[in-house]
Amino acid sequence: MFSFDRRDFGSDFTFGVATAAYQIEGGQGDGRGSCIWDTFSATPGNVHNGDTGRDACNHYELWPQDLDLIRDGGFDAYRFSFAWPRLIPEGTGAINQAGIDFYDRLIDGMLERGIKPYATLYHWDLPSTLQDRGGWMNRDIASWFADYATLVASRFGDRLEATATINEPWCVAFLSHYLGIHAPGYRDLRAAARAMHHVLFAHGTAIDALRANGAKNLGIVLNLEKAEPASDSQADRDACNFGDAVFNRWYLDGVFKGQYPREMTEWLAPYLPANYQDDMAVVSRPLDWLGINYYTRGLYKASSRPGQKAEQVKGPLEKTDIGWEIYPQGLTDLLVRVSNDYTKLPIYVTENGMAEVEGDNDPRRVKYYEDHLKAVLAAREAGADMRGYFAWSLLDNYEWAEGYNKRFGLVHVDYQTQQRTPKSSFRAFQGLLHNSR
Ligand code: NOJ
Repeated sequence: MFSFDRRDFGSDFTFGVATAAYQIEGGQGDGRGSCIWDTFSATPGNVHNGDTGRDACNHYELWPQDLDLIRDGGFDAYRFSFAWPRLIPEGTGAINQAGIDFYDRLIDGMLERGIKPYATLYHWDLPSTLQDRGGWMNRDIASWFADYATLVASRFGDRLEATATINEPWCVAFLSHYLGIHAPGYRDLRAAARAMHHVLFAHGTAIDALRANGAKNLGIVLNLEKAEPASDSQADRDACNFGDAVFNRWYLDGVFKGQYPREMTEWLAPYLPANYQDDMAVVSRPLDWLGINYYTRGLYKASSRPGQKAEQVKGPLEKTDIGWEIYPQGLTDLLVRVSNDYTKLPIYVTENGMAEVEGDNDPRRVKYYEDHLKAVLAAREAGADMRGYFAWSLLDNYEWAEGYNKRFGLVHVDYQTQQRTPKSSFRAFQGLLHNSR
């Protein structure tokens, strides 16, 4: 059980759970087009155990019981993502009616159960046809994405509580085009630089399209890590500063200041799209809220490799099953920093959670949530306008390059039978949310 009461968070605070389409839906038939994770995961060596999202949690069929779980947990809201290739199989042009019908049922199912729909447009399942045309490296992605946003706004907008454009642009751009760990798996600084700009330009273009089509309460979801130096040396502090620019400031400065950090534009100068400066007013379109996904800190030291400005090192703190340090103080620090240095918009923690070994007794996860929720309270007390918190994730699911091997769910999934079993962490939320209403 948690040691606080939901009233401690204020009366306008939303508690929810989060998922993403490719990680849970399965249901690749019914007209859904191919996406970059279908092809990336089919290539040996890219994903642990060769796992793919083909079946995942079969949420495509089992969604009523998943929504029942959200209701029974006492959650106010559900953060889910639309699968672009389920709605527009080729990325542009023809619409898949079965996809429209699926999200109609899902959203109506939330509303019937008193659950508020928080939607994400892009959680990494880019239609393969668009990747064939260059994907995030191609500036045209902004208009493809805006057309998709227009479809979502016109078909579903009136029933959505909030809409985010992009989930975790650092992952879309840097992790996927420079580090090569996520689809499409490039290791190319030019590809990454172009994607880093286009993902934010597409975000701003989609904000315009959503607004023009009547959608309300619009935001973006950034993944932030508290950057800390591995030692007090000047070299490590410089490395930390650079790591902070790559991971956090590119996105925060771009979206809230309309300007990228100078050390970044100098580093990427040969590769950034021509005249990117002309797009910065679009990149920094006013928003209604900011979502922050938080898992851990980034610890940096000066790199010994020629040409490399910083290196991440493994820290000494207790780690989750995926190897990430558990560091709740970093969440408070980040939320306060964003509130002081960037924006007074309402802030949501749109994801937070931990990977834990398989099982439905997960006391370490209960403690993780306890400590991170307290970190949110501390940020709130320090003046950050905290409006909500979404646990990642409702279910054990497809953890991208880690496949089904890493489990983040409040609810255990047996992938042989698709049986769902609530864990102790689910019960902890249920206690918090049911007892104090
Ligand atoms: C962030 C991503 O948005 C989500 O898809 C992923 O599963 C979690 N982090 C855990 O890695």
